[in-house]
Amino acid sequence: MSAPIGVGLVGCGRIARMFHLPILRDLPSARLVAVAEQNAGARAAALELAPGTVGVADVEGLLAMPAVEAVVICLPTHLHAETAIASFEAGRHTYVEKPLALDGEEARRVHAAWAASGKTGAMGFNFRFHPLYRQVRQVLADQQLGEVVALRSVFSSAPREVPEWKRVRETGGGALLDLASHHVDLVRFLLGAEVQAVSASISSRHSVQDTAAVTLQLSTGAVAQLLATVSAAASDRIEVLGTSATLEADRMGRRRLTVVPASAAGGPAAAARALVSGVSATLDRLRPPPEPSFAAALTAFVDDARTGAATGATIEDGVRSLAVVEAAEESAATGALVSVAQSAGPTG
Ligand SMILES: NC(=O)c1ccc[n+]([C@@H]2O[C@H](COP(=O)([O-])OP(=O)(O)OC[C@H]3O[C@@H](n4cnc5c(N)ncnc54)[C@H](O)[C@@H]3O)[C@@H](O)[C@H]2O)c1
Repeated sequence: MSAPIGVGLVGCGRIARMFHLPILRDLPSARLVAVAEQNAGARAAALELAPGTVGVADVEGLLAMPAVEAVVICLPTHLHAETAIASFEAGRHTYVEKPLALDGEEARRVHAAWAASGKTGAMGFNFRFHPLYRQVRQVLADQQLGEVVALRSVFSSAPREVPEWKRVRETGGGALLDLASHHVDLVRFLLGAEVQAVSASISSRHSVQDTAAVTLQLSTGAVAQLLATVSAAASDRIEVLGTSATLEADRMGRRRLTVVPASAAGGPAAAARALVSGVSATLDRLRPPPEPSFAAALTAFVDDARTGAATGATIEDGVRSLAVVEAAEESAATGALVSVAQSAGPTG
């Protein structure tokens, strides 16, 4: 493969300093050239994590550097679209943290800029790369559950002090944009299905749009129910119900995948046998949950930028996830079942 690719990171807040910055700093296939961060304290903290990197205050300064061939965007959500468009227009491969934008109109403009650029356009749907979900996808591809009838998921994050931009919907707040956007993408990725129609209810009891219950009608005929909240103890679980077996994947709690064949309904002995046959791994519960998916997603982005492949979620997947979020908001407001357009591009 060619020389390491020059990367610029935009936005050095909580998640970038926790994951993206150290990952990109240590990635052999990348060379972290510069970081753009408007807050001087956050910029200094980033430069401490990645000595030798150039620090600038804004994305314009970063895009002016020819050594920056690829851009990773970890800005507040309301700045994703304009920054991604500027990056594609400047001819840079671009990785956009989720969600892609605030609404479908913005998302389609990013899609148009991406298509015109011919560059790699990746979405930060990193859970596609999580080993647990890779395993779920394999189990489903192997038809171990028979025909998939339904999927049910819970994604929650504990209430905490959040930055100003996360407190209102207009700049990116709420469980739909923050959490459900990930699970909508996982449903599409795991089941190989598109979302055709959405019904939802949203409540704002503790903070804006803190809890959302979303039902998806899928192109395969299966149904998915997603519950997302930023007001409850952290969890991330998915159940898939098939005609011959059910599957449970728990990324944060028991951290394992369990497949229970229909015959397990026959009693404790059968259930125990099913558990033994289906358990992939039980990890040490005393250690903090490992989160390998950020590194895998960023490695894939860098490799894709160098080879022209597209192995992760793309800008198109970002458009599709956001279309479902928007449909859920419309359904919650009107009480109606809302159809989702089947084309992701600018004319969709
Ligand atoms: N993939 C995931 O699982 C995951 C997890 C957490 C966050 N995220 C996404 O990452 C993004 C960032 O989240 P966060 O929690 O780190 O937010 P944050 O507020 O902690 O960080 C954002 C940073 O951007 C900086 N910034 C704001 N405007 C700027 C500008 N114009 N130029 C340069 N810097 C600017 C801020 O000063 C701040 O340091 C969000 O879109 C969020 O949805 C994704």
